[in-house]
Amino acid sequence: MQLHQSSWIEVDAYLKTSKGIVVPIGSTEQHGPNGLLGTDALCPEVIAKRAGDEAGFLVGPTFNVGQAQHHLGFAGTISLRPSTMIAAIYDWTASLHRHGFEKIYWFNGHGGNIATITAAFSEIYADVSLKRTGANAAPVRCTLRNWWELSGVGELCRELFPVGEGSHATASEVSVTYAAFPDAIKRVEMSPKIAPTGPILDADDYRRRFPDGRIGSDPSQATPEKGERIIAAAARALAADYERFLASA
Ligand code: NI
Repeated sequence: MQLHQSSWIEVDAYLKTSKGIVVPIGSTEQHGPNGLLGTDALCPEVIAKRAGDEAGFLVGPTFNVGQAQHHLGFAGTISLRPSTMIAAIYDWTASLHRHGFEKIYWFNGHGGNIATITAAFSEIYADVSLKRTGANAAPVRCTLRNWWELSGVGELCRELFPVGEGSHATASEVSVTYAAFPDAIKRVEMSPKIAPTGPILDADDYRRRFPDGRIGSDPSQATPEKGERIIAAAARALAADYERFLASA
């Protein structure tokens, strides 16, 4: 069940059965010569939709722009400042909480978002604490999970791509998008085959160090078949992890 394809009456009814929601969160940023700009938002979205359809939980609309300042040297990248993103996560959460959602599982597709999402959680909790409204209001609990860290998923990605998985525009994430969007598959020759590695600083420095956008990866290995295996494994692991979150205090 997806929030943005439901009516308010359906969400109202859902809230009588569950106070939880999974919200995919990612980024719109370059993913090398053959990766989609939406990769980091599409991966958690696709996995969450599969898991939500199978397990019957609600999936929110994808928060699809994040911390991508270092990718702005490449066309199409859109970035939020940390302060903007914290404010937006705060308002998404406050809106959902007003309706009665108490457990919000942010399902992330972009490593660069982690610090900012965590800071947003602190803003949310600080607001409750400083206003001392916590005693009478229903609590809100947020958690963050990165899709590639779900149980068994990292192991599967390393098994499928023992060489050239890399850390940006990875063979695994490109495979996931190819499985979900076969019409968007791009076959591009890349040189060197495995991209260089190094630190991430500002956008101009990034483009000098990583001229085609990849870091440490060979995403020409990506296939829809391998992507489907990753989606299936990640969806199962997500459903189990979300269930644990709902059951936790
Ligand atoms: Ni990515």
